Amino acid sequence: MALNVELLETSFAQVKPNSLEFTERFYATLFADYPQVQPLFAKTNMEAQGKKLFQSLVLVINNLLQPDVLSSALKGLGTQHIQYGVLPHHYPMVGSSLLKAFGATLGPAWTPDVQQAWTEAYGAVAQLMLEGETTLQNS
Ligand code: HEM
Repeated sequence: MALNVELLETSFAQVKPNSLEFTERFYATLFADYPQVQPLFAKTNMEAQGKKLFQSLVLVINNLLQPDVLSSALKGLGTQHIQYGVLPHHYPMVGSSLLKAFGATLGPAWTPDVQQAWTEAYGAVAQLMLEGETTLQNS
């Protein structure tokens, strides 16, 4: 699927100056909407985790035109997530919360086109991460 690189880049540039607010909002939404995933983060330093999560979004945006880089990085990240106890059905929960956090951070700039661009991008990211999970499980 061809991702809308231009919309992803311009909208992400608007989120970047508010990265702390964005990640706090993302985890607050995730835990409010899906309290069942909170135990996965029981021993996690959430401030450090927010920075890691944001950096992985930076990596995605910086490599939209380098599918090979993106693919190996995200499959590797997916494999790591097995150790964290993350299961495939958790991915839509994170997706929904990330999109809500984008919407709340971008405000009027969260147009239907931007929403569609991020929905597709998250789908592609989650698919690669899940490939990383299943490859290991089947090997
Ligand atoms: C687009 C999808 C996702 C991205 C980009 C992402 C990103 C990350 C990153 C960068 C880390 C840190 C890895 C490291 O230690 O180097 C991490 C850790 C983690 N992620 Fe994700 N993640 C995603 C999906 C999920 C999902 C679906 C869950 C389940 C609710 C989840 C739960 C966790 C947990 C529990 C950790 C470990 C926290 C700890 O160190 O204690 N992630 N994630």
